[in-house]
Amino acid sequence: MPENAKLVLEGKEYELPVVTGTENEKAVDITRLRDLSGYITLDSGYKNTGATVSKITYLDGENGILRYRGYPIEQLAERSTFLEVAYLLIYGELPTRSQLDEFDNNIRRHTLIHEDMKRFYQAYPTYAHPMGVVASVTCSLSTFYPESLNPNRPWEKINLTITRILAKFPTIAAWAYNNSIGHPVNYPKNKYSYVENFLHMMFSKPTEEYEPDPVVVNALDKLLILHADHEQNCSTSTVRLVGSSQANLYGSIAAGCIALWGPLHGGANQAVIEMLDQIHADGGNVQKYVEKAKDKNDPFRLMGFGHRVYKNFDPRAKIIKKACDDVLNKLGIHDPVLDIAKKLEEVALQDEYFVERKLYPNVDFYSGIIYRAIGIPVDMFTVMFALGRLPGWIAQWKEMVENKEPIGRPRQIYTGAAKRDYVNIAERG
Ligand code: CMC
Repeated sequence: MPENAKLVLEGKEYELPVVTGTENEKAVDITRLRDLSGYITLDSGYKNTGATVSKITYLDGENGILRYRGYPIEQLAERSTFLEVAYLLIYGELPTRSQLDEFDNNIRRHTLIHEDMKRFYQAYPTYAHPMGVVASVTCSLSTFYPESLNPNRPWEKINLTITRILAKFPTIAAWAYNNSIGHPVNYPKNKYSYVENFLHMMFSKPTEEYEPDPVVVNALDKLLILHADHEQNCSTSTVRLVGSSQANLYGSIAAGCIALWGPLHGGANQAVIEMLDQIHADGGNVQKYVEKAKDKNDPFRLMGFGHRVYKNFDPRAKIIKKACDDVLNKLGIHDPVLDIAKKLEEVALQDEYFVERKLYPNVDFYSGIIYRAIGIPVDMFTVMFALGRLPGWIAQWKEMVENKEPIGRPRQIYTGAAKRDYVNIAERG
């Protein structure tokens, strides 16, 4: 049994319970600290704050370990499928064959979105960023399924909402792309698997039906698995925080999409490929960009490098780097940007600045090159991340609801003006 932590404040000692996780991670539980002492803790960016206890994902940033429900990410990426992983994350165990078939069939039954939603797409300009469209349409599902607003529904009903969002998200995402290129939207075809269906909706034309290529399907399935959950990151914490007010699942997921969109989070995959293209167009001088990234007067950062938690290597990046080589070889594509990415990684990993700060390539560094090789346009990259992260968001939201977690409401230390009296406008200097 771990000892309680002892904290001395203004000469008075307080005992605080220590919480220990499955892998011996330790936390000091400060829930009662303010009641006992009047103090709160301060932690900008939540760099050292555990927001919850969770049974979903284990991440050890020092040793580059990532496991979903105890299963190593390497095994899941190699041997599992995205839907199997989605089931695992959401329901806690790997499905039996019949459970997986039922899950898959239910999802296939709900892939259509309400025909009226098509009008939303017609109203967006073709230059609209698909993340804005996807987040808005996802939130709009709550208006078409108002029963989802009731926070006290039986689990059977909540499961239907979960099935709907999993089933409709690929349609919502692919339609955002169809719209962005001024093409008619493609309806889902339920003969296809989850990933095949998404690719069909993305790439079929009225003139020619897209035939899913198994190399592309496997690569995408793997990418989605690698993105499926990552414990309490910015977007997932957003989903839990928004959901903690008993906001509905569709709205909570839409909020997660927005949090993911930023270039420091899921938006990095788009930023990486734009950066690599820029380096390529600028003559491929990798060292110049490494120097720019180190220059504190230059806002430029090496996108796809660094991670809040991984301080050794990102296990997802290792798998993706290999998948990237495989996919490009199998598809017979030579992308000069892959050579630049590898060179950049090599140079940065030997540079003192990056070594000292433990900055390594993250999941986003190579994923964009695969997306591009399989024909996905750059501004859809973050949408792909969202498609992958969806089961994780759902699982984390479900866990938060099941645990009956209280509404999230951080505190602050106020540093503004002390009390002062109102001055009439005529008397202000
Ligand atoms: N290029 C250059 N310098 C960097 C970079 C980078 N990509 N990342 C961090 N640093 C430096 C930073 O300037 C700081 O230096 P100093 O100590 O001298 O001030 C130090 O490293 C620590 O950085 P930080 O910003 O305090 O670290 P953080 O934990 O707050 O940020 C991060 C993590 C991922 C936001 C950051 O590394 C970054 O901006 N990376 C580029 C964007 C990116 O690739 N994001 C995707 C993350 S993985 C996908 C996901 O899960 O969202």
